[in-house]
Amino acid sequence: MMPRQLTTVCATVLLTFSIAGLAFAQVSTRHMQAVQQKSFGTQDGRPVTLYTLTNVNGVEVDTMNYGGIILSIRVPDRKGQFADVVLGHEKLEGYIPNPPYIGAVVGRYANRIANGTFTLDGKTYTLPKNDGPNTLHGGVDKTFNKVVWDGEALKGKAGVTYTYLSKDGDDGFPGNLKLRVTYTLTNTNELVIDYEATTDKATPINLSQHSYFNLAGEGTGEILNHEVMINADRFTPVDKNLIPTGELRPVKGTPLDFTTSTKIGARVDDTYEQIALGHGYDHNWVINRNKGDDGLVLAARVYEPTTGRVLEVTTTQPGVQFYTGNFLDGTVTGKQGHVYKRRYGFCLETQHFPDSPNHPDFPSTILKPGETFRSKTVFKFSAK
Ligand code: GLA
Repeated sequence: MMPRQLTTVCATVLLTFSIAGLAFAQVSTRHMQAVQQKSFGTQDGRPVTLYTLTNVNGVEVDTMNYGGIILSIRVPDRKGQFADVVLGHEKLEGYIPNPPYIGAVVGRYANRIANGTFTLDGKTYTLPKNDGPNTLHGGVDKTFNKVVWDGEALKGKAGVTYTYLSKDGDDGFPGNLKLRVTYTLTNTNELVIDYEATTDKATPINLSQHSYFNLAGEGTGEILNHEVMINADRFTPVDKNLIPTGELRPVKGTPLDFTTSTKIGARVDDTYEQIALGHGYDHNWVINRNKGDDGLVLAARVYEPTTGRVLEVTTTQPGVQFYTGNFLDGTVTGKQGHVYKRRYGFCLETQHFPDSPNHPDFPSTILKPGETFRSKTVFKFSAK
């Protein structure tokens, strides 16, 4: 018989080992299950899969191969409380249709092309118009936000790659365009988005991500309290159809000056003509970068004072559309029955400038055969 004291010591040692073992098992399971997959329905007769990316901090991103949509991003606040900080739906059906492009990859040409037309190598192309006289976010038919992509989870990383072939003539665009979009969640709470494309005919291309953020938590109200810094000394002013006039106008002295952090609500309804035309903020800012530098630079930083959550956006792209959800009108009901009203979310759509195919002075959006289009945007979450 073991003396009682020794039995207790043995039991304690055993318990300690098994708790440690359990903890180890949990950590390694977490690592092993950096990507979880589940069937999420079908669309156009094709299976849709929901991928959940998880990092070591418990941050989670839900995304699906329908439209490359990000359904949710759960991140901690300054007290470690998690909330879902993007608008969205719980089920696939919620996204069909998805008029505000919530969470989706947008293209072949993100943002607007004036009068649905452009000329390339002497040939004039006509696109479907879906925004007054313009083509918005690629048109109406096989736009990237509403097609089923192929999906493949990354190995040993919290990530997923979506691929899609946009055919020659789809929505009026030239060339078979092979696309690849990868989402990777790092252990420093960054959601990294890598875009890649090749074509067999010259074509305009502009790819972006249309998540609507509310750092206080989706469905909690207007985003007017968020403080925004945009690293841009200039923006591209627009006409009444939100088409750039061609001017690169200094933000200084205008309500579009976000070079120092300012509450969205402070000037969102200013009488300045550009704000009136955009019904709030819905403009492209020209991100500050040194000539010849095509690496990642800071585009914007957003701080939500009640939770301390911070979103920092860096990108290789020349522009960012800061859109304050002016067209959300309460007709979309999202997660947990939340009704998404005007200004319940904001977007930071990194991009080339709107209507670039009709503005030879803007950085070119033409991809040619033999070239590879590459761009990267990082959404980094923290709290202070
Ligand atoms: C973009 C546009 C907005 C609006 C939304 C979608 O951000 O710039 O004007 O069309 O997409 O609702």
